[in-house]
Amino acid sequence: MERIQIAEDLSYSRIIHGLWRLADWKQSKEKTLELVEHNLDKGITTFDHADIYGGYTCEALFGEALSLKPSLREDMEIVTKCGIVLPNKNRPEHKTHHYNTSKAHIIQSVENSLKGLYTDYIDTLLIHRPDPFMDGEQVAEAFTQLKEEGKVRYFGVSNFKDHQWNMLQSYLPFPLVTNQLELSAYNLENFEDGTLNLCQEKRVPPMAWSPLAGGNVFTAQDEKAVRLRDTLTKVKEEIGAEGIDQVMYAWLLNHPAKIMPIVGSGKKERIDGAVESLNMKLNHDQWFEILQSSMGHDVP
Ligand SMILES: NC(=O)c1ccc[n+]([C@@H]2O[C@H](COP(=O)([O-])OP(=O)(O)OC[C@H]3O[C@@H](n4cnc5c(N)ncnc54)[C@H](OP(=O)(O)O)[C@@H]3O)[C@@H](O)[C@H]2O)c1
Repeated sequence: MERIQIAEDLSYSRIIHGLWRLADWKQSKEKTLELVEHNLDKGITTFDHADIYGGYTCEALFGEALSLKPSLREDMEIVTKCGIVLPNKNRPEHKTHHYNTSKAHIIQSVENSLKGLYTDYIDTLLIHRPDPFMDGEQVAEAFTQLKEEGKVRYFGVSNFKDHQWNMLQSYLPFPLVTNQLELSAYNLENFEDGTLNLCQEKRVPPMAWSPLAGGNVFTAQDEKAVRLRDTLTKVKEEIGAEGIDQVMYAWLLNHPAKIMPIVGSGKKERIDGAVESLNMKLNHDQWFEILQSSMGHDVP
């Protein structure tokens, strides 16, 4: 499995596994362990979490599986996020859906994540969404403390536009290492508004969330989805892929920005399909055909 250098002493597997939907899979901790081991065997060593996933339950579901074989921790990189606050039965003190990037909230969230994930360090902590109430000094204090205590190795963001990235970075004594963005052939916003260019300018490899548009690309009946599905099917046949999911992954992987797709499926055969897409080459014609099919018109 190809690896992407994130920092001097940290690399991620090019294909990452996302655990947002882990609670939906309703599986035993033994089954989750089996899936984690399957991924590690395939070279997928990087796992993406957030405090809020599964209504604040997914980190602990993963941690319970890891507790069955704690030695696996050394073979993986754990990314998790904080900053979104959801009203939830597991957090009765939360009254409204809001953002909190205060020092106290970030530190408490990391303590909860460490406990849930059955680990004593997080490889990368991301601020989940840009917070209109963000105080760069507080975030810097929290990050510095967590780094000094050895609880978090590196820090990044998710869904940040360039001005939000630059604002936060200006307060930090060390560089942000990634920006986790919605990137897919179906959702082009970050390709079109300069956010992906920011990652390239900063030499920061982006993580791509919902690389299959959350599954919509297989089922949606809107004009754009139908058009894109037809083009993906055509390219699938040209390159000998098994499914249009592989063409969606290949479209991201063939882009020069070193995009790392986060696979959201819990099914081993679909995860394996994502790994196989690493070997699939798209030529310029095919790459632009998919782009234009999603845009609904030719490039100017
Ligand atoms: N930073 C953020 O704001 C943010 C937001 C959203 C997600 N994320 C991260 O990104 C990860 C991936 O997001 P995602 O789950 O939306 O990814 P995705 O891969 O775009 O969508 C996954 C969904 O597509 C379905 N699917 C996959 N292959 C399929 C196929 N061949 N046919 C039909 N359905 C198929 C999956 O169902 P099956 O499980 O049945 O295969 C699953 O429901 C998450 O786990 C999370 O870690 C981050």
